[in-house]
Formats: sequence, C-alpha cells, structure tokens
Amino acid sequence: MISKQTNIYIAGHTGMVGSAVWSKLESEGYTNLIGETSKVLDLRNQQSVFKFYKKEQPEVVIDAAAKVGGILANNDFPYQFLMENMQIQNNLIDGAFKNGIEKFIFLGSSCIYPKFAPQPLKEDYLLTDSLEPTNEYYALAKISGIKACESIRKQYGKDYVSLMPTNLYGYNDNFDLKSSHVIPAMIRKFHQAKVDNHSTVTLWGSGSVRREFLFVDDLAAAVVHALENKLTNHLYNVGTGNDVTIKTLAKSIQKIIGHKGDIIWDTSKPDGTPRKLMDVSKMKEIGWSYKTELEEGLKKTYDWFLNNLLNYKENKLD
Ligand SMILES: NC(=O)c1ccc[n+]([C@@H]2O[C@H](COP(=O)([O-])OP(=O)(O)OC[C@H]3O[C@@H](n4cnc5c(N)ncnc54)[C@H](OP(=O)(O)O)[C@@H]3O)[C@@H](O)[C@H]2O)c1
Repeated sequence: MISKQTNIYIAGHTGMVGSAVWSKLESEGYTNLIGETSKVLDLRNQQSVFKFYKKEQPEVVIDAAAKVGGILANNDFPYQFLMENMQIQNNLIDGAFKNGIEKFIFLGSSCIYPKFAPQPLKEDYLLTDSLEPTNEYYALAKISGIKACESIRKQYGKDYVSLMPTNLYGYNDNFDLKSSHVIPAMIRKFHQAKVDNHSTVTLWGSGSVRREFLFVDDLAAAVVHALENKLTNHLYNVGTGNDVTIKTLAKSIQKIIGHKGDIIWDTSKPDGTPRKLMDVSKMKEIGWSYKTELEEGLKKTYDWFLNNLLNYKENKLD
C-alpha cells in the first residue's frame, strides 16, 4: 500500500518531467522522496544502480531518466540513444524487480507508435507497423522498456506500468534553440524579437501541421494517479486528446508575449508528420484527465522563462 511515508525513488528528478513529478509529490505531502544526479549515480552502470537500491531501499520507482534529444541528436547518435536508454531502464527495471519492488512507473513517449498508425493513436497500435526512422533507435529502447515492465507484470503479477506522454511543455524546459522543442523555441524567438523592437520572427515549415501539447504538471498528476491506484492495463497514453495547428500555437505565444512584429513561415524547412494525436480514453476511464488549457499553460511557461531569464542569458548559446 502506498502511504505518504512510502520511499519513492524518482530517477531523473532534475529533468523537466522528474522535477515536476517531485514537486507534485511534495505538494501532495509525500515525505520520503529519493533522487540522485547523474554525476553521483550514472544509471548506465549496473553495479552502481544495484548498490544504490540496496542502500536506499526504495519501495516505488518512477523512471523519468533518459537520454533525450531532438531529431538532429537522434540522427547523429543512434547507438547512444538505443544503448544508453536501454542501459538506464534495464538497470532500473531489473534492479527494482530483483529488490522486490512492487511498483514501477516507466515513462516513454508517443514516438513508440508506428509512423503511419491511424489517428488518434491507441495503445493497441504498438508494434503494428514500422517506426519513424528519425527516432527509431530511441523508440526501440522505449518499446523494450514497456515490454520489460509488461513481462514482469504478466509473469510475476507486479504493478509495473508504462505511461506514454504526448509532447510536453512547462517549467524547466530546454530553451536552447539548438535542441529545444517547438514551444520553448517559439517562446525564446518571440521574446527576443520583442526585445529587439518587435523584429520579424521566422518559424520553420508551413505552420499547418497539427500537434498535441500537455502541460508538464498535468503529466505529474497522471504519474501520481498511477502511483496511488493499481492500474488494470500495462500501457497508458497521457495527453489532452486535442491538437492545434502550429500556426495557432505561434499566434497564442505571440499574443502572450506581446510581440507585434511579423511572422515568416520558412516553407523550405520540413513540417514533419501532418498530425500526431493521442487517444487518451484509457486514462480517462481510470479517472485522470488534463486540467491545464494550452493558453494557461503557455502563460505559466512564459512567466517561468521570465523569472529564469538571468540564467538563460548566462547560458545563451547563440
Ligand atoms: N520533454 C518532452 O516533451 C517529453 C515528451 C514525452 C515523453 N517524455 C519522456 O519523459 C522522460 C523524461 O524527459 P525530460 O524531458 O524530463 O528529459 P530531461 O529534462 O532531459 O531530463 C532527463 C533526466 O534524466 C537524467 N539522466 C539522463 N542520463 C542519465 C544517466 N546516465 N544517469 C543518471 N541520470 C540520467 C538527467 O539527470 P542529470 O540532469 O543529473 O544529468 C535528467 O534528470 C523521458 O523518458 C522522455 O522520453 C518527454
């Protein structure tokens, strides 16, 4: 049984997802949270992970640790994206299993689904067709993590579950333009253009493709929901079930920031897949739904960005 005193290890607690989960658990009154940075505990090293489990004796593990990156990084380092992610999750999952840990929450992403799967994406579409080649290696690592949890669940009856979030945004996001996702990239660009006397902002693609976005605190609430309830399935999508065009997203961010200049759509740059939307009915059935509308989440993210602007300026990379 989970109590507020349960020893909960959050792997990757310094990351965007892990830090949101940590804050949510703290705010819900959980008092025994465990976290360690990669400098102190390299999760790729099996011996270190097993030693850490013996010492800390967690009762639950939330795996938000991963080697994460955009298309470029995935394309340039396929071996690291496959191998390091498998090492991290294998050590965490097998270590948890061998230490008798009853509950494990594994986080993946929507890239596990086939490139041409019907929309919205249902959990059943896993392994029904080939993957998107640009992140195939990362996706394969994540799929093996899902299968590891599923097999422990099947064979030993333990509550090992996988949550697949859609595109996330929010506090502690990566605002480095060389590797950031679409929302932090737009926030930085529009903010900079506003500071530069409302100069023109150039954005990639036509803006006509549709994407789904979830505020990271809502994902954290989904993780807590999975923690506090014994789930009947092994795999759940976590999203809003709604999508917007990139153009609509850009207009919302422009308005929130107060940028008055023009937007140029650079159609020589790729758009990516026309639509990527999750079917979130299984999460709804078990009592979780998103709370933060896009507009509200974007405002909160921009406020966070402004409050951390000093830090951002010091780390300015371009
Ligand atoms: N961001 C999104 O839009 C998104 C969407 C869907 C799913 N997800 C999933 O959510 C999970 C977390 O993503 P995120 O966006 O929070 O990533 P992130 O901000 O890059 O955080 C990654 C975390 O993993 C830790 N880590 C990485 N390599 C490690 C190693 N070798 N040893 C120990 N710790 C290591 C990092 O620790 P240090 O900081 O100490 O190095 C950091 O705490 C991933 O599984 C990702 O697939 C993210």
